[in-house]
Amino acid sequence: MNRLVVVSNRVPLPEKGAQAGGLATALEPLLRREGGLWFGWSGAINEEARDSALHLTQAGRLTYATIDLSPAEHQGFYANFANGVLWPLLHSLPELMRFDRADAETYLATNARFADALLGQVRRDDLIWVHDYHLLPLPGLLRARGVRNPIGFFLHIPFPGADLLALAPPAAALLEALLEADLIGFQTDGDLANFVTAAETMAGARRRGPDRLEVAGREVQLGVFPAEIDAPAFCATAARAAAAPNATRLRQSLAGQSLILGVDRLDPTKGLVQRLNGYRRLLERHPGLRRRVAFLQIAPVSREDVASYKTLRIEINRAAGQLNSEFGDPDWTPLRLIAKGAPRDSVAGYMRSARVGLVTPLRDGMNLVAKEYVAAQAPEDPGVLVLSRFAGAARQLDAALLVNPNDPDAIAEALNRALHMERRERQTRWQAMWDAIADRSPLEWGFDFLRALQRAATASAATRLELVGAAPRSPQLRPVAFAAASSAIN
Ligand code: F6P
Repeated sequence: MNRLVVVSNRVPLPEKGAQAGGLATALEPLLRREGGLWFGWSGAINEEARDSALHLTQAGRLTYATIDLSPAEHQGFYANFANGVLWPLLHSLPELMRFDRADAETYLATNARFADALLGQVRRDDLIWVHDYHLLPLPGLLRARGVRNPIGFFLHIPFPGADLLALAPPAAALLEALLEADLIGFQTDGDLANFVTAAETMAGARRRGPDRLEVAGREVQLGVFPAEIDAPAFCATAARAAAAPNATRLRQSLAGQSLILGVDRLDPTKGLVQRLNGYRRLLERHPGLRRRVAFLQIAPVSREDVASYKTLRIEINRAAGQLNSEFGDPDWTPLRLIAKGAPRDSVAGYMRSARVGLVTPLRDGMNLVAKEYVAAQAPEDPGVLVLSRFAGAARQLDAALLVNPNDPDAIAEALNRALHMERRERQTRWQAMWDAIADRSPLEWGFDFLRALQRAATASAATRLELVGAAPRSPQLRPVAFAAASSAIN
């Protein structure tokens, strides 16, 4: 395979230890197996960032190349525009958007700095794969610098209706720059359909097929690539971890109560306040369940520089305190809210110990926690997944109890049903969900995308040749070799 260059804002540098998060979980197996270059932000904020050199770290055949951000870049690019404008809009939560033109300019300038720093690293035959909403204009910025390599882009989060996206003043310009990629991938067909409408109405694209656009004489391929986990490996981890001290202590502390478990970054899109309200309704409507259940919500604090995240933290602490003081007893705490993350292995063990996995984002690109909860279950006595119908994962995991996350009564009803569900129904539902995820893997996801990128780059070069008589921009492409999930490194 041609060398792979992955570009993402967050880079899970080896010296920082294992890092959770959908993007890292999806990409790490591929890069560790194939090698290549992973380029992005070092995680450091540094006054001299603009003048500081690229940091290079070698791990086997994988090179990490990272740059620092200046305090102004971190605030304007990452906190204010990426996470204060794009994140809420793309999750269809426009009321959380805080737009300032200066932040949009910093976002663009920081993307340009990414492009400049990357330029010196790109070789003629590289496949370039850009990730997520932090880097929407990067394909256009790279093309403007003469990069002719195949460029793919994958959006890990949802793509909203065009009318919502249009609320961000620079939306059309961002789309135009993004459309310089050869392939743009999404989590679901709904996201892809929304993108087609936005590209047509805001960026002058023309539909040339269900997943093909023409823009200024070029073809842009679109595709749906649902992010996956390695379910058999996660299952094995969960079985081991369930017997390890952390999960054992948790079960002992439950003293026979059924565990409801939520695991999410503390983020406004995750529907945590609504989820707590759903649990409150459960305890109100079904007093018999009091003292017989416990809800553990692991919610590591995240993006503390963004105003809406600070507000959420206050709101969730208040709601949790009220719930516990109202319903708790001296020897029973209905809700355990934990603001720090837990190691992935421990979480797997907790998942296997939980009768209910409660995953109710208001909207989510995929939500790999939902897949992990399914993978963690013991087949002979599985728990029940209660899942938001607005998570991308609901497309594959439709045997979960699907709920509207905005409706606390619906959450309460689903919880009650899950807590009383007979083993046979639990097994039938779990089997259907396991079958939907068990033979997929992050490696297969990555290779699917890269094969599609090679095809797209070839088609795009041919169209360009045909339409404008230009030389094909794709250099020599070697076929992407597919490796079965079982050969993945650990
Ligand atoms: O795609 C969304 C995402 O990038 C996930 O990969 C990850 O869980 C999260 O956001 C990380 O956010 P941040 O880099 O802001 O901490």
